[in-house]
Amino acid sequence: MDASTTAPPPLDAPSVIAVKRDGGELCDAQIDWVIDGYTQGRIAEEQMSALLMAIYLRGMTTAEITRWTAAMVASGQRFDFTDLRRDGKPLALVDKHSTGGVGDKITIALLPVVMACGGAVPQAAGRGLGHTGGTLDKLEAIPGFTAELSKNQIRQQLCELGAAIFAAGELAPADRKIYALRDITGTVESLPLIASSVMSKKLAEGARALVLDVKVGRGAFLKTEAESRALARTMVDLGTASGVPTRALLTDMNRPLGYTVGNAVEVVESLEVLAGGGPGDVVELTLALAAEMLDAAGIDGVDPAETLRDGSAMDRFERLVAAQGGDLRAGLPLGAATETVTAARGGVLTDVDAMAVAMAAWRLGAGRAEPGAPVQAGAGVRIHRRPGDPVTAGETVFTLYTDTPDRLPAALAELDDAWSVGDTAPPELPLLIDRLG
Ligand code: URA
Repeated sequence: MDASTTAPPPLDAPSVIAVKRDGGELCDAQIDWVIDGYTQGRIAEEQMSALLMAIYLRGMTTAEITRWTAAMVASGQRFDFTDLRRDGKPLALVDKHSTGGVGDKITIALLPVVMACGGAVPQAAGRGLGHTGGTLDKLEAIPGFTAELSKNQIRQQLCELGAAIFAAGELAPADRKIYALRDITGTVESLPLIASSVMSKKLAEGARALVLDVKVGRGAFLKTEAESRALARTMVDLGTASGVPTRALLTDMNRPLGYTVGNAVEVVESLEVLAGGGPGDVVELTLALAAEMLDAAGIDGVDPAETLRDGSAMDRFERLVAAQGGDLRAGLPLGAATETVTAARGGVLTDVDAMAVAMAAWRLGAGRAEPGAPVQAGAGVRIHRRPGDPVTAGETVFTLYTDTPDRLPAALAELDDAWSVGDTAPPELPLLIDRLG
């Protein structure tokens, strides 16, 4: 049939849902219509929920993901910081995003390291999604810290400090609505929906290069390495095709990162990293991502590890927090109700399941069960021993913190099968699995 005589696609929600439900491909006009209509409130929540579930079950073609992402970017503003200068030179604008991990506090120390090395990071950060924590929820555990920044403040911080961490706000507002709806409709774990969510925010925020930390394993949204690899490839291609050179590290998320999962507890652990200490895996991943960011931004001749040793990264963090209203001297809260889990026998800790620890932290109040609900700054889990560590009978393996004692039994139940003690050490799992881009 001649293209000029082809009937235009039906633009009504039941028809669009039916196309995806039946395994068809949405055309550009349908995608633009859905994203605009939902953002503007013309498409009902139940219709968008049905469409998201159809996408979750049927997937999307590369053409659909590309258009869906572009439509989400077009739903709001797109920042441009290319006019900004420091010492007369354009800023080295680079950002990082993780696909969501457990104990994933990396951004908190990574940004100051990159700032101290001369990078400029415009970071649109998210709140918790599903079982994973959000950088904003963690940083808001610092008394006074705000992520509601005006565009002028973001510009000023980028020039004067080298970073701003802000709620996406007017950037990709379609993602804000879809993200919240996915969280309550069982549609988080979808490659096209994760890729478009991450990349719409990142393409809109004004970074000139991007590094992605794509999680692999039990604590990741996509469970198999093949799926995570496909997600990484999709996002790298989306970014590069949109003029933002993008690369990705595939990193292990079978076990939690570091010794803490929650909000304030993770900030405290990040401060340890910034002070030159902290858990080895958190330091390793921070430095690997910093090296990628600096390379992507064209910064060479600096050693990111030195910024942790000489205090320059800590100095940047303190200035960043102060610029965003936070007061680190006020101390960080810890839930007053606690419970411990102890080892019944001695031996070697053979496993700690990231997903189960994440669910325990979520039940303690570190995450939200409804969109927009507050999280508890002091809720979380401290992991005292990590796989491979020796344990003795009666020794504490986990401490749980919450402001709501009623939450403790359900959190404890999540940890029942989350860990094991045996006689021989488990095999080492490499943290850095691969690099794409
Ligand atoms: N991070 C995001 O921004 N979106 C997702 O869907 C998952 C992780």
